Amino acid sequence: MINPFIKQLSLSIEQTYLSQSLQGVEWIVAVVQTVHILALCTLMTAMMISNFKALGILHRNHVLYPLASALKGPAHIALLVLFLSGLVMIIGEPARALLNPIFQLKMLLLIAAVICSIYLSVAQKRIANHSFSKNNLHFFEKLIALISIGLWLAILFAGRWIAYT
Ligand code: HEM
Repeated sequence: MINPFIKQLSLSIEQTYLSQSLQGVEWIVAVVQTVHILALCTLMTAMMISNFKALGILHRNHVLYPLASALKGPAHIALLVLFLSGLVMIIGEPARALLNPIFQLKMLLLIAAVICSIYLSVAQKRIANHSFSKNNLHFFEKLIALISIGLWLAILFAGRWIAYT
């Protein structure tokens, strides 16, 4: 049901002027992939630091501790850049990404990872607003942080794996 629709979609994208133009410029994929990699470095740094903080591994007096909140803005921008650069790669070679089950898995993992990050961010704000709390997240939040780390690493792996499937 979904696959014929995705096949049709990728055929339609392939025939657009933009896709044809991208296919004609050899260096463009390398440039866009470089941008994708730079953005994912920013996002992964922000996600790892904030999850380590949530797990209690990163202590208050550690030099990286302030980065957890300082990197929130750059992380949002990085996610947008990843989305836009990913979109350019998809338009350039729609079938390679859209019809690939690993790419589809990567997108599902990404949705799950974003939901985990939003949940943790809300939980951290809630705890920070209660002065009686010692800013310690509970067991469930720590479990979510651990799952979140696993999801981001799986997304990274899936991103690379697309090229070999
Ligand atoms: C936001 C939406 C995203 C879209 C639409 C997207 C799309 C893509 C596409 C189409 C490729 C090319 C795959 C290929 O043909 O080999 C790619 C590569 C890759 N992506 Fe994403 N991506 C997104 C987000 C992410 C995120 C969040 C991460 C990691 C945290 C990530 C990690 C990677 C990696 C490691 C590669 C391989 C780069 C390379 O080998 O040069 N992507 N992505």
